[in-house]
Amino acid sequence: MQKVKIKMTDQNSKSDLMEKIISLCKRRGFVFPGSEIYGGLANSWDYGPLGAELRNNIKQLWWNRYVHRRDDIVGLEAAIIMNPKVWEQSGHVATFNDLLIECKGCHQRFDQEKMESGKCPLCGKEKFTEPKLFNTLFKTFIGTVEDAKSTAYLRPETAQGMFVDFKQVLDTSRKTVPFGIAQIGKAFRNEITPGNFIFRTREFEQMEIEYFIPVPKIESDWQDVFEIWRKEMHSWTEAIGINTEHIRDYEVPETERAHYSKKTIDFMYEFPFGEKELYGLAYRTDFDLKNHFPEPPYRDNHSPVGEHESYWPHVIEPTWGVDRSVLAILCEAYTEDGDRVVLKLKPYLAPYKAAVFPLVSNKPDIAGKAREIYDTLRKKYAIAWDDRGNIGKRYYSQDEIGTPYCITVDYQTLEDDTVTVRARDSAQQERIKVTELPEYIGSRVGMLS
Ligand code: GAP
Repeated sequence: MQKVKIKMTDQNSKSDLMEKIISLCKRRGFVFPGSEIYGGLANSWDYGPLGAELRNNIKQLWWNRYVHRRDDIVGLEAAIIMNPKVWEQSGHVATFNDLLIECKGCHQRFDQEKMESGKCPLCGKEKFTEPKLFNTLFKTFIGTVEDAKSTAYLRPETAQGMFVDFKQVLDTSRKTVPFGIAQIGKAFRNEITPGNFIFRTREFEQMEIEYFIPVPKIESDWQDVFEIWRKEMHSWTEAIGINTEHIRDYEVPETERAHYSKKTIDFMYEFPFGEKELYGLAYRTDFDLKNHFPEPPYRDNHSPVGEHESYWPHVIEPTWGVDRSVLAILCEAYTEDGDRVVLKLKPYLAPYKAAVFPLVSNKPDIAGKAREIYDTLRKKYAIAWDDRGNIGKRYYSQDEIGTPYCITVDYQTLEDDTVTVRARDSAQQERIKVTELPEYIGSRVGMLS
């Protein structure tokens, strides 16, 4: 069979690819339209059983890589609704704005900066109202009275939790600068023009690190750390299976940078609907800590001159979107091999690490042995069970959701306690002793491999 990786260069196949991915996501339970039984809610998506596994695997990989494996980063889970003063101090109430324009033909509203041409994408008219500032903070009210005093915001970035809790983390973790605080969590933005499936939504999840460094004495003091993180972010994209050729570093010009940043690199990915920001890296200077702490929050007890020096550490911030990671991973992994769809996910990201099949389901000995293997393996790994249809169909079905290994229990198993293990990408099969299966699977799907 001829292997055809859908090429990202051809316009038709690109929109085709997007449709195929959306359809696969719905059909197999990766991503569903949100609130569908009530007619849905525009641009809201729910992650189904397989999507939830994939997301969790991404987050686990990230947490393991940056929190567990590093001595200089600790984790945090701050509240989503914070004191509204946080957002006043951070500058978000005043400046977290998009430029809203309205089409004079169909009255649809758009974010001017995200428009790809001067034409309304809905009606084609070229006349718009003058742009006006629209604050994208998601407002809510705390308690029973809905007035200005009870206004609160759903956080638009997880970052502020790391700044506001900086001293408490410092006191309890006893870390010294340079060190980082990492957080995974939901963020909310009242985007004017969400869209492109899970790419831009109003509710999404971020994985962020605020990496605190001493006050730079020369430019290279922060630039070197910035470069280390730039390389690290490329290494991460490789780890999740993204071809580095599909990523371009874009240095955001000053006029487009967020209010807190002195330098920003957007990691642009070739999505099927165009090249867009996947992740970001920013030098936030001491902007945030200075906004929240009138007194320097850090005291260096090992200052070289022997004096205790207090200061506001500076911050390098690498930030990753979980939902955009899911989408980019699916775009990279989606492959067609004849009429077979194979999701070539990294094994440690795959929703199921293996599937167990009895060759025939009406033979109690075979079905019983298969169940035994399934029960043993799923104590440690996410394992699928399938006893429907024929083996060929089961392979296809597991390939489509990226399961790296399929284990078949057959007549020979009853004689010599071996099973067939078939690998997703090569479709090669080998005979493995049942007792060796946990090690066989474990050594191939673990995050450390
Ligand atoms: N703390 C810095 C910050 O929030 P950002 O570039 O605005 O920076 C970081 O967001 C990442 O969050 C983006 O690179 C993207 O992956 C993700 N993201 C931002 N807005 C999003 C949205 N509306 N929908 C989905 N993901 C989004």
